[in-house]
Amino acid sequence: MAKNLKILLIISGGIAAYKSLELIRILKKNNIKVQVILTKGGEKFVTALSVAALSEEKVYQDLFSLKDETEMGHIRLSRENDLILVAPASANIIAHAAAGISNDLATTVLLASNKPIFFAPSMNVEMWNNPITQKNIKFLKDNNFNFIGPDSGDLACGETGDGRMSDLNTIYEYITSTIIKKKIKLNILVTAGPTYEVIDPVRYIGNKSSGKQGIEIAKAFHKLGANVKLVLGPCRESIPKDINTINIETAKDMYKEIKKINKIDVAICAAAVSDWSIDNPSNVKIKKNNKNKPKLNLSLNPDILEYISNRKNNRPKLVIGFAAETDNLIKNAKEKLSKKNCDWILANDISKNPEIFGGNNNTISLITKNNVDNWSTYSKKEVAEKLVNKVIENI
Ligand code: C5P
Repeated sequence: MAKNLKILLIISGGIAAYKSLELIRILKKNNIKVQVILTKGGEKFVTALSVAALSEEKVYQDLFSLKDETEMGHIRLSRENDLILVAPASANIIAHAAAGISNDLATTVLLASNKPIFFAPSMNVEMWNNPITQKNIKFLKDNNFNFIGPDSGDLACGETGDGRMSDLNTIYEYITSTIIKKKIKLNILVTAGPTYEVIDPVRYIGNKSSGKQGIEIAKAFHKLGANVKLVLGPCRESIPKDINTINIETAKDMYKEIKKINKIDVAICAAAVSDWSIDNPSNVKIKKNNKNKPKLNLSLNPDILEYISNRKNNRPKLVIGFAAETDNLIKNAKEKLSKKNCDWILANDISKNPEIFGGNNNTISLITKNNVDNWSTYSKKEVAEKLVNKVIENI
């Protein structure tokens, strides 16, 4: 997902510098190009040779290197990378950055940069809590510098408290999501949950959808910084407050809300929308009466997936539907793909695994116009992450 990215890593003087060697390995494994500036302090903890061997790049150390500076090395280093990560970030380099002091290559690059900058602090708890450090951090945060961590725990100095550099996976996840956020500002529509079709003020026809899969998809896109709209039927799941959620009850409500949304890059219709609604629902509770059993007349609901797939001017670049089937999974899903004119269908066989409704796992076949990809069983969160990766590769 993060391929083709370029990161400038600044290793400053802190015991956690040894972890930065492993961080370089993780970044490289994920096809990220890493250039490194090793400060005078950083050099005391790790050698330039180890950094060069792992990054497979020249290591930059000297502000006044004749060769690098004829090429304006301090400007070039920030311009040719997507972001700068300072890990570990000592109290000293944070203070220099906050004061705008540029007396070595690392601090000069930080001052001259036009790219996002991330600090992963690592220091003694007292240094972290010192009001001067906290003031510097507040100033930097107010000026759009990003901070990852620190964590709390046992520190290398023998004391305990805030100051441990965040674990490497957290740092990796954070910076790659933020890059993606900068790179793709996608408008995502997700429908999720069941619909309730009203019989009278207390009764409805619904279905077993829990909404979990669609909500996980909305969360996964949101985590990447995409602009997510979640149109959600009645369900018990809790939704993070910062996801833009439009709650609806009936299929017609859902259709009405979606018609208002013009700009959609990717639509994922995971909702189990009722195919029918009840004609003339009663305004008052229908009384039990053996002689006069109520008759429910049904009318077809609008098919929202089909509507989105066939929008003339503002069809999303990618429209994805779901198909829960009890028989002929692939055949039925393929028919759905072509009938509704969507791009992908995520099909699941609910006869084999009745737990899919309401459960935490899902077994998906991803059907596109020319291909069927059978996934193993994953948690709904993992399915969401796999889907997000697929979308990003294909959009
Ligand atoms: O035809 P069926 O209901 O099995 O199709 C399932 C797919 O179509 C799902 O993606 C569902 O969200 C979508 N759908 C819809 N509007 C409907 C019925 C289904 O968007 N009225």
